[in-house]
Formats: sequence, structure tokens, C-alpha cells
Amino acid sequence: MPNLKLSNVGKKMNHLTGVREIMKDIAATLRSDPSKKWLNLSPGNPIVLPEVLEMWRTYANELVNSSEFGPVIGRYGMTQGFDPFIEAVVGAYNKHYTWGISRDNVLITPGSQSLYFLCANLFGGERDDGKGMQKILLPMCPEYTGYDGVVLDKDILVSVRPHIEILGAHEFKYQVDFSRIHVDESIGAIMLSRPTNPTGNCITDDEFKKLHAIAKQWDIPLIVDAAYSPPFPDLAFVPMTPFFDEHILHCVSLSKAGLPGERVGIAIGHPKYIEALEPFQSNVGIHSSRFGQALAAKALSSGRLAEISSSVIKPFYRKKLEMFRNALHERMPKDFPWYLHREEGTLFAWMWIDHPKMNDLEMYQKLKEQGLICVPGSSFFPGLHEEWEHKQQCLRFSMTATDEEISAAAEALSVVCKKL
Ligand SMILES: Cc1ncc(COP(=O)(O)O)c(C=O)c1O
Repeated sequence: MPNLKLSNVGKKMNHLTGVREIMKDIAATLRSDPSKKWLNLSPGNPIVLPEVLEMWRTYANELVNSSEFGPVIGRYGMTQGFDPFIEAVVGAYNKHYTWGISRDNVLITPGSQSLYFLCANLFGGERDDGKGMQKILLPMCPEYTGYDGVVLDKDILVSVRPHIEILGAHEFKYQVDFSRIHVDESIGAIMLSRPTNPTGNCITDDEFKKLHAIAKQWDIPLIVDAAYSPPFPDLAFVPMTPFFDEHILHCVSLSKAGLPGERVGIAIGHPKYIEALEPFQSNVGIHSSRFGQALAAKALSSGRLAEISSSVIKPFYRKKLEMFRNALHERMPKDFPWYLHREEGTLFAWMWIDHPKMNDLEMYQKLKEQGLICVPGSSFFPGLHEEWEHKQQCLRFSMTATDEEISAAAEALSVVCKKL
């Protein structure tokens, strides 16, 4: 590391923690032997599905050949977003959920990750009333590891252990443990992903309503990361009913619906939140890519995006998850204590190995020796500082692999688990 005069924030942003360190190791592993055929079940990148690509290609061709193209790429725009896209968002959500929102409820951001950066630092950090650090509560972990990187101080995130419900011989589910949730004046916002990366958990409408009641009681936002939620990419496999209210800030992403490279995120919430986020975004990055927004406007206003999400994207990943589960049931050693989280959404399978010798980092290395790359689970407990053996007992597998790779991954896992 060169001898830079870094600030504390600079140091925090440069510190390779958890998943970033693993991702660096994965990249080095793949480079180390390019001729080797790795079973790489680590990526968070969605698959480029032919039907989805074709939809975006059609809209891109339309856009490039229209008179809109020049001003779309050749001019700066409003920080709030590209007008036709804002209108399309309002139209789509009013149609799907009859939320009755208007353009004042919408802000477009460069991907949803940047929206979490804005939210985390709008509602979390040092206060000027001498009351110390205002925190962001993650009501249940495991949780999206990307939240760790958006806070400027390591003490801002506080997370809560879940209740574990065993559902069958090899299936379990996390539930919000409300007995462990303590909100007071120091909490500036509650944040969660629904469905959740990495576990595929989708908190129930009941759990969601209880969290909403807490947010309302303390007059703080409930920030909902809808990166996998309906209406797009619609990677929720259980019924969920998103609703709109003064204290809910929905954070939507187009990435898992085939547009991660264009960086388009959407905040939908009360104007008081939108108005607070907008100047912050203007300072950080002015606005999101207008090309991406213009494409998304077409896909949303035609209804095609929601349609292709539920008819193509959702069944694709559901089938892969089912295949992985079946392959594990066939191959894993009998009476071995492995559990998959119930498949409730996202493109990931989350495995818990309830064995005294299980250590996720060691397991990651042993699986690599078998040619299988996954992500160790301990990276996914941002804000949970207490010791808990479960943190070292889980692994995340991405369902972006081919059918053959998924089957071979189950075989590699069974080989390593037999030795354990
Ligand atoms: C739960 C969750 N939230 C947010 C993001 C970031 O998405 P975006 O591409 O919109 O920045 C991801 C990306 O994988 C994610 O899994």
C-alpha cells in the first residue's frame, strides 16, 4: 500500500473486509490456472438470458435510431432522473400495486448500491446534538454484505441474530427475532433486503408489518432493498405484498432484470425522503446514466419488463435452485447435518452445515481443492459483532452456473462433507 495520507474514511473504504477479500482471492484463483475448469458458484452477476437480452436490444435499437438519442447521451439532465423514466415508474407501480404515487415520490440513482450509500449516510453517522453516533439497524442477518461498505464508520451498522426454524430433515428458515430488537433514539433507520441476498429468505408480510410499526413509532424510515422483489426482477418465490406508506422507502434495482451494466436504481418513498436524498446525489454523482434510464423507460411503460421477469427470469432461477436441492439430496452423505434455507427468492442457495468441525473459510479452501468456488457465509453478517458459531457454518452458492456445474458442485460438496 503506498504511503498515502488517508483519512479515517479513506482507510475504511480501502480496507478489504469480508467478501471483498474473498472476491479478490477468487479472482486470483481463477487467474492462477486459466486452463482448469472451475465450478464457479460464487458470482453475484446475473446470467445474460437470451430473451431478456433481446428485449433490451430491441429497445436500444429503437432508442439509437430515434431523435431522442442525441439529447439522451449528449446532455446532462435533472438529478431526480430522466422524465420519461420517472413517469414510467409512477405508472408501473400505480398499475401493479395501486400505490397512488406521483413523481414527487421518485428518485433515480446510479444503481441501488449508491442509494444505500446515500441512505446510510443520510440517516447514520455522528449527530450535532452531542448524542453520539446515529445507527442503522439491520433487523435480521445474514444480510447483504454490500451494506458494510456504504457506511463511513464501522460502528454505524447494528444487526440482530435471527431465530432459526428447522422445517425438515435438510431445510430451515430464518425468522426475525423481535425479542432481540431494541430500538431507541440512537437508531436513524431500519434497513433490510427482501428477498435477501445471500439466504433467499423473504420476511413474511406479518414480520414486515411489525418492522413498519416500529419505524412508524420512532418516526424513522424502513428502507427496503427490493433488488430481487416483484414486479421486477420478481425473484420472490413466496407471496409478498409490498405496500407504500410515509415511513417506507422502497429501493428498486434493474440489475437483476438484465441491466446491471447501466446502473439504474430507483427510490420510491415519501417526498421528505426524496427531497433529502436528491441534493446528496447531486453532490456525489449528478445523476444516473440517461441511456440506461431511457431504455428502462421503454421496458417499464410497455409492461414488458414485469412480464419477462415473471415468465423468464423467475422460472429460470427457481429451476436451478430446485436442481441444486435435488442433487444434494441424491449425493450428500446420509445423516449428515446439512440444511438449505427455504427457497423464497433471489438467485442464491444458502447452505448451513450444523457440524462442530464446520468452518466456512476452511471449507471454502477445501472446496477449492475440489475445483468448486463458493462464498463463505461469514461475510454476510454486517453489523453483527457478537460471537455466534452459526456465522462460520454457512456457504453461499450462486445459481448462475450451468446444470452440469450445479450437479458437479453437489458432488464436490459431498466429497468434502464425507471427509468432515
Ligand atoms: C440485496 C442487494 N442489494 C443491492 C445490490 C446492488 O445492486 P445494484 O446493481 O442495483 O447497485 C445487490 C447486488 O447484488 C444486492 O444483492
